[in-house]
Amino acid sequence: MTENINASRPAPDYDLMTRQLGSLSENVAWDVTVLSNASALLWESLTDINWAGFYLMRNGRLELGPFQGKTACTVIEPGKGVCGTAVTEDRTQLVPDVHLFPGHIACDSASNSEIVVPLRLRGEVCGVLDIDSPYKGRFTEEDQAGLESFAAALEAILEKIH
Ligand code: SME
Repeated sequence: MTENINASRPAPDYDLMTRQLGSLSENVAWDVTVLSNASALLWESLTDINWAGFYLMRNGRLELGPFQGKTACTVIEPGKGVCGTAVTEDRTQLVPDVHLFPGHIACDSASNSEIVVPLRLRGEVCGVLDIDSPYKGRFTEEDQAGLESFAAALEAILEKIH
């Protein structure tokens, strides 16, 4: 983790990604369309990741939404795994080593670190943005800040649709 890959890797341009998200979402009236392009944008813009996408709250649990990467777990209960913890704690989970996170759900055994940002609609958690990496310590506090502002832009777009 100390000799991690972040030293040599340029940080993604989160402001640019947020503006791209805005352009891609103009005149879009379906949240699946917005989230599909958002997952593709994350996938194209971030290096050293193996999964990027969304779980959405439906009937009190998280269900798999649009994503890029390998097939994944379909249903996650609140409080379970990194995603379910982000929901119950209503805050970002920055996990440098998923193997040290109690209850981590291993959809892909290649994943070693993860970041999960809750998404809110009118004050209620409506889902999570989830990104996995095969590298320990892949996500920094700078990534957290960038992804939280990306998520805030996404929330504003979804609020207009709903
Ligand atoms: N690892 C997650 C499950 C979702 S996958 O990473 C795509 C978790 O523990 O909640």
